Amino acid sequence: MSMFRFGIAGPGAIARRFAAGLGELADVTLAAVASHSKTRAEEFVREHQSLFPKLIAYDSYEKMADASLVDAVYISNLNTQHQKTAELFLSRGIPVLCEKPFALNAAQSERMIACARDHNAFLMEAMWTRFLPVTVKVREWIRDGRIGTVLRAYCDFGMELMTEEDRRTVAIEKGGGALLDLGVYPLSFFGMLFKNRPTEIVSTVSKAVTGVDSSFEAVFRYGQRNRLFGNDYFTAAASVSIDTLLSNQMKIIGTKGYINIQDFWMGRSAAWTERGDDGFFKSEPSEIFCPEYRSTGYQYEAAEVVQCVRSGKKESDVMPLSETLHIMALADRLRAQWGIVFPGE
Ligand SMILES: NC(=O)c1ccc[n+]([C@@H]2O[C@H](COP(=O)([O-])OP(=O)(O)OC[C@H]3O[C@@H](n4cnc5c(N)ncnc54)[C@H](OP(=O)(O)O)[C@@H]3O)[C@@H](O)[C@H]2O)c1
Repeated sequence: MSMFRFGIAGPGAIARRFAAGLGELADVTLAAVASHSKTRAEEFVREHQSLFPKLIAYDSYEKMADASLVDAVYISNLNTQHQKTAELFLSRGIPVLCEKPFALNAAQSERMIACARDHNAFLMEAMWTRFLPVTVKVREWIRDGRIGTVLRAYCDFGMELMTEEDRRTVAIEKGGGALLDLGVYPLSFFGMLFKNRPTEIVSTVSKAVTGVDSSFEAVFRYGQRNRLFGNDYFTAAASVSIDTLLSNQMKIIGTKGYINIQDFWMGRSAAWTERGDDGFFKSEPSEIFCPEYRSTGYQYEAAEVVQCVRSGKKESDVMPLSETLHIMALADRLRAQWGIVFPGE
């Protein structure tokens, strides 16, 4: 089988981790990298030449798109640039894997999806968490009924990302803030668990002086189940911060057990605990899944793109565009509650 050739648009920090992940895949290569800056593109090529000897640098995205040298493009520039960049490649029929957050808002996301459909091109959000072995195992445990019906999910997710004034995470004009930088992970994970749309959302926010959300808490209700004395609600809650390190755990509680995922966004390990004969949960997990962490973990989402594109699919069943749109619509609803608007919106 011929090598599948990726291109990168926006060779920054995460592009380096993505490229390292690609190095894990046998029949995949990095063929091209494009940046608005010739220096940045050439530096990226120099750094990666030993892994990808035929890697070519382009000093514009248009030149890479016109060269017809790649089978798919990974977009890893600023949140504010995703829509325009995705449309550039999609309009030429080039498959696109676009970093999270997919765009600034649902309206931009809708336009990107329409462009992909108009040009019959593959498009997927780079929500890498969905493809990690730990997440796959958790989906398997749930599908096998290990924890019964999922009733609750709780997540805290925080890192110290507001340490310097020039970081993109603190800048509202670059689409910064906790919600788009980290919050989309729990929103996506909850969507994966509960499938349907939340009926109610309650939230609180802390705003930074730059206007972005530095942290937030949100509770989502996903429908109800009848109980003897009234209703119980399928509920998910997240506490997210780009200013504070949190424990970064996801806990999923079901009728027959619970699952705890450590560092859920990067899928470090998962533990399944059963309900005991006394009706309470056992004090020790019944199974812990802690796979060897191969490279950076970005190879799994790349492998999904390769598999989909090779089989002629236009979107992924694991990360469908309808779910991506739903995540962005939820993010819009939260920002509306907080009064946060990005410049130009
Ligand atoms: N999946 C994950 O785990 C993960 C982790 C971190 C970030 N991300 C996402 O990946 C994307 C990039 O994040 P990053 O941390 O890699 O960003 P970064 O290193 O700061 O920059 C990436 C690229 O964005 C463009 N850019 C950066 N600053 C710019 C500015 N001031 N003006 C114009 N363009 C600028 C540049 O593209 P050019 O070189 O083409 O000009 C740059 O190469 C974001 O959407 C982020 O949310 C994902």
